[in-house]
Amino acid sequence: MDSVTLRGVMDDDLPLFFEWNSDEASVQMAAFTSADPSDRAVFDAHWARTRSDPRVVIATILHDGQPVGSVLTFPDFGSPEVSYWIDRAHWGKGIASRALALFLKQVDVRPMFGRAASDNVGSIRVLERNGFREIGRETNFADGRGAETEETIFVLDGHSTE
Ligand SMILES: CC(C)(COP(=O)(O)OP(=O)(O)OC[C@H]1O[C@@H](n2cnc3c(N)ncnc32)[C@H](O)[C@@H]1OP(=O)(O)O)[C@@H](O)C(=O)NCCC(=O)NCCS
Repeated sequence: MDSVTLRGVMDDDLPLFFEWNSDEASVQMAAFTSADPSDRAVFDAHWARTRSDPRVVIATILHDGQPVGSVLTFPDFGSPEVSYWIDRAHWGKGIASRALALFLKQVDVRPMFGRAASDNVGSIRVLERNGFREIGRETNFADGRGAETEETIFVLDGHSTE
């Protein structure tokens, strides 16, 4: 049985995060990214801010001991929101679903919010499998697509479903 585990982010993870976060197919899917995910300076500044923010909790996702993604929670207008990203080479193995379940055990603040482009079927499944329910939709400009894009907003109440 393959394993999915979480650990703290290490400096050596950042070149991997940059590679995955600038993958064109992934950016199209996520939609709500920076305007130019291939700009390393913008990426470095963003991650330096993120890692030094005490309100942010971040973990590196390991699959059979190897880094394959990241999961984090950050305050979005004061409410905690969760986000995750998996190396495209490892999609479809249930990694995001299992990683989010582990993360939600570590970070038990509720309500926890989540958002996904309404056509990001994989991300929506990951949220729903972890007990999130839809509470609304809104259309915003998505820098990763350069286009107005509908987002679905989710919430997880109570305690983890696992
Ligand atoms: C979305 C993402 C995190 C999914 O990761 P993953 O490890 O492949 O997800 P899982 O394997 O846990 O899949 C969860 C479910 O979604 C389905 N799924 C995953 N990718 C899918 C896709 N592209 N199209 C349709 N269904 C998909 C799986 O079949 C699974 O369904 P099931 O529960 O019925 O078996 C990954 O594709 C990714 O990192 N994308 C780019 C970044 C991104 O979009 N992040 C989320 C921002 S909101």
